[in-house]
Amino acid sequence: MTTTTIEQAGKHDGQEVTLKGWLYNLRESGKLLFPIFRDGTGIIQGVCSLKENPEAFAALKGLTQESSVFITGKIRAEKRAPGGYEIGVTKLQIVQRVPESTPFPIQLKEHGVDFLLDNRHLWIRTPRQAAILRIRAEAIRSAREYMDSQGYTLTDAPMFTPAACEGTSTLFEVNYIDDQKAYLTQSGQLYGEALAMALGKIYTFGPTFRAEKSKTRRHLTEFWMLEPEAAYVELDEAMALGEGLVSAIVQGVLKNKSRELETLKRDAKKLECVKPPFPRISYEEAVAVLNKNGNPAKFGDDFGGDEETIISSSFDRPVIVHRYPTSLKAFYMQPDPQRPELALAFDVLAPEGYGEIIGGSQRIHDYDLLVKRLREHKLPEEAFEWYLDLRRYGSVPHSGFGLGLERTVAWICGTEHIREVIPFPRMIYRVYP
Ligand code: 4AD
Ligand code: MG
Repeated sequence: MTTTTIEQAGKHDGQEVTLKGWLYNLRESGKLLFPIFRDGTGIIQGVCSLKENPEAFAALKGLTQESSVFITGKIRAEKRAPGGYEIGVTKLQIVQRVPESTPFPIQLKEHGVDFLLDNRHLWIRTPRQAAILRIRAEAIRSAREYMDSQGYTLTDAPMFTPAACEGTSTLFEVNYIDDQKAYLTQSGQLYGEALAMALGKIYTFGPTFRAEKSKTRRHLTEFWMLEPEAAYVELDEAMALGEGLVSAIVQGVLKNKSRELETLKRDAKKLECVKPPFPRISYEEAVAVLNKNGNPAKFGDDFGGDEETIISSSFDRPVIVHRYPTSLKAFYMQPDPQRPELALAFDVLAPEGYGEIIGGSQRIHDYDLLVKRLREHKLPEEAFEWYLDLRRYGSVPHSGFGLGLERTVAWICGTEHIREVIPFPRMIYRVYP
């Protein structure tokens, strides 16, 4: 007897196979049972008749949702079935029966989001959530494939750090050994810069942490960031890399996860046009776009979600906004030599209101200017001594950016909130389960 998966079932049309999975749903209709099984790779509907398979019928009848089972039966093409195939159940072996007294909490009906989040460890079993997590995996796979193809080496930054990278207001302090103070990293960038001076072109990919007090659909306190950093690369080249990376991720998902996008009822047309070149506008042009749309933004204002939505809705693909006021941006950003009040920084804004998915810049490579900036930002110089070494020993122009994985995946999936695209979201009021 061949054991296979629901995803591969179509290759066994007309044959009897065994699947290992769970009972997702069961409809009973007299002498016929219509179960739906899932196995992690997909869902398949089944039919079981009392007359033809009395033992399987008896085992399946009344079986509780999410009971684990070995299912044996014949695969046949069925156009109307999800996935295009169904299984005629001939044998059913129960691995664990969910007790009637403790039914699976998530039913096939609408639940409130707090309830679902409390049961996130079970919610991820539903087809929609499983599709999202598979798309996330593909986004990571295609992102890494692209970075590797561009000659970037994957390296890792530490999670415990002695200092802030992205402002001190969102730092998570940890009680490190013997009362030393440490912080959870907000970004791997500063270490990425050291690694770029060692290896040329690198990227880090890992979790990053911010004590975000804002309760928005775009913020997590723990999120994953992919951060390229490259020596001798200036702003334009960094923007082109960001554009290539975002395009590669979207095209990878379209190519390899089309079934999952269908499960999510995501309109693939909105993603198909995500190819280079992306429109590029300066911060000042973006302010003009806002004013034209009745938004009172003026030079020096930061863009919030509403502003980003107005700007991005003029384009069918992500838009790159570059040269933000230096005053709005992080201490390490290189000022534009022509106009020092502007930083050689860029953000990539996703379409459809998903906001900033990439933030990046050229970095200050001059020692004196960097020291001046550290002082202006009131950052503790001792903690940055090693970082200043990078400007003492063969400093070169260099650039990088951070791509927020969850924002990117939320946009690709079209989910309302980014909490759905990470297995176990961490948010301002949630660290359970
Ligand atoms: O723009 P940010 O703050 O840039 C940095 O951290 C740089 N040090 C990166 C670099 O140049 N290496 O963050 C980068 C991206 C944002 O564009 C956004 O996509 C995501 O990280 N991000 C968040 N995603 C989810 N929840 C949050 N609280 C996020 N904060 C930032
Ligand atoms: Mg940013």
